[in-house]
Amino acid sequence: MEKGKFVVLEGIDGAGTTTQAARLQRHLAERGVKSVITREPSDGPVGTVIRNALRGRIRLPEAAGGGELPKETIALLFAADRIDHLAGEILPALESGAWVLSDRYVDSSAAYQGTLIDLEWVRQINRYAIRPDLTLFFDVDVDAALARITSSRVQKDIFETRELLVRVADSYRKLYSNPPPDVFRVDANQPVDRVYDDMIGAVKRLLGV
Ligand code: TYD
Repeated sequence: MEKGKFVVLEGIDGAGTTTQAARLQRHLAERGVKSVITREPSDGPVGTVIRNALRGRIRLPEAAGGGELPKETIALLFAADRIDHLAGEILPALESGAWVLSDRYVDSSAAYQGTLIDLEWVRQINRYAIRPDLTLFFDVDVDAALARITSSRVQKDIFETRELLVRVADSYRKLYSNPPPDVFRVDANQPVDRVYDDMIGAVKRLLGV
């Protein structure tokens, strides 16, 4: 059995990765390629803790000030969630021959946590993460992304402020400034069908489907 391909979709909040992952899955299904869509934070136990922390529902005890969890703690939670996600979902699916389409992966930690705390340390705690076959970077203007978030979300995450998204967008652009062949930048300011066409072009060129 040939192993499946591992495709990751990255970008700031509101870049459209979730929509494009669903469309990519449809494209693959029409060509007889089985795929699973997954995401980080994952739906596993640590991923669930992360979502609650990002929504402000898990905080430090009152005696410790009741504030948000330290940024290093959050970075370690993302790294721990990634171990679970790889072992429990990504690797078994790839072994079974299915493609894995992951809505965010290790580069989200580099871009988000790496702009808030020491990037080298963030990379170290994530060094077991296998490299995807293809990373699609959805590069969108912060104000366009914020407009999408505001119209579609009831409650915003702690990362969804303009100031932070500007920094994260810069850190993604720096991360992918000299992209190797397995990283493809999509101009995500375009209409959604054009974004899709560009994504599919890259998938066909690099992975042949
Ligand atoms: P997101 O994909 O926006 O989930 P949802 O659509 O359910 O809100 O992910 C939640 C947030 O987590 C998002 O702001 C990006 C952030 N994040 C990190 O900071 N580091 C990481 O390693 C990952 C995977 C996500």
